[in-house]
Amino acid sequence: MDKRELIKSAFKAKEKAYVPYSNFHVGAAVLMEDGSIYTGCNIESASYSPTNCAERTAIFKAVSEGKRKIKAIAIVGDSGYTYPCGVCRQVIREFGLDAIVIIAKSEDEYKEYTLEELLPYSFGPEDLNNAKK
Ligand code: THU
Repeated sequence: MDKRELIKSAFKAKEKAYVPYSNFHVGAAVLMEDGSIYTGCNIESASYSPTNCAERTAIFKAVSEGKRKIKAIAIVGDSGYTYPCGVCRQVIREFGLDAIVIIAKSEDEYKEYTLEELLPYSFGPEDLNNAKK
């Protein structure tokens, strides 16, 4: 996996952030199982709650193109190391229980986690499948 390339893609996506309310720019790049990369930025709304985080923009682009399995995701934001919000952690979990999450400050300065570290004891698709009917 080329982590530098993934981080670079996230920085490029961050430039597209639509953030007239927070002015907080975030970019994400998701590497799917087949090697494809999808990028996303955060997109805000005048009514605030429809705001979509960069991570979910990238993941939803991938999923809507038929990709289902996340290998890794790189996240960059305005606050040094920018960690994914709880909602995005849950969405990463849906498509990447084994995903590597890269939180980057620059192409050379990054921290790496497993999704499991960021969202331990998670609830996911298997729980619904295993439910007693
Ligand atoms: N945001 C993201 O895009 N990803 C994160 O991981 C944290 C928060 C966005 C949402 C909103 O547009 C802005 O950052 C401030 O919360």
